Amino acid sequence: MTLPDLRTRDRTAVELMDDPDCDLPALERTYAQFRAVNAVVAGWQLAYRRHVRPLLREDRVTTILDVGCGGGDLARALARWARRDGRRAQVTGIDPDRRAHAWAARQPPVPGVDFRCAHSSDLVAEGLRFDVVVSNHVLHHLDEPDLRTLLEDSRALARARVAHSDIARGAWAYRLFSWGTRPLAAGSFIREDGLTSIRRSYTPAELAAAAGPGWRVERPWPARNLLLDDELPGDALPGDAPAGDGPR
Ligand SMILES: C[S@@+](CC[C@H](N)C(=O)[O-])C[C@H]1O[C@@H](n2cnc3c(N)ncnc32)[C@H](O)[C@@H]1O
Repeated sequence: MTLPDLRTRDRTAVELMDDPDCDLPALERTYAQFRAVNAVVAGWQLAYRRHVRPLLREDRVTTILDVGCGGGDLARALARWARRDGRRAQVTGIDPDRRAHAWAARQPPVPGVDFRCAHSSDLVAEGLRFDVVVSNHVLHHLDEPDLRTLLEDSRALARARVAHSDIARGAWAYRLFSWGTRPLAAGSFIREDGLTSIRRSYTPAELAAAAGPGWRVERPWPARNLLLDDELPGDALPGDAPAGDGPR
């Protein structure tokens, strides 16, 4: 494997799955593989424990929006983890790509999950709000204006927390992904698009600069960026009793 020059972000590299005329069976195999690959590389179990579970309640439904949900595996996982923890959550996965939406919507249903074929700006225009807004592997996909739109939309849509998780560019991420996804490469875009994604992705400092004031980049481990909105209340939902008001 030849390591590409990862010192600068490759804004021009294009993922195969973004081609509207790409091979549909290969695209659908890629959506199917997202679940296993995300479980290994994306670290959402940890992000859920730190940033989503504190906002889940037993006595009221917490609403969660997964922006750019692709095959929908994160939306389904969040609903399953909430149920396992005895908390009530309603998760909506949106993606404006009809192919992604169609695939996600025809998977076996998971209680507390629904999917819509929509862009984040459509939901802002409808005046919708969610307690928590998340995304996975969306940031690196976007050019600067679309990144700005996503960040403005997620801030407008969220009441308490925004958490956008993405790859952090680096040589080890590239080497490990290249090695680990070799068995999955046949008839799928997973390996090639994953490597393109790493070339397109941000370092933590670049992402902090691109997001601007009011956003913070957490690094759960070296190959991961978690972009958090610092202007929202974080661990409190509207309607929660103020700290210190509990029984004495
Ligand atoms: C690589 S896919 C990520 C899929 C999934 N989240 C995952 O991790 O497997 C990125 C998706 O984000 C969607 N997307 C990009 N910007 C969006 C926006 N502002 N609102 C909703 N979806 C968006 C694209 O259509 C694309 O399907």
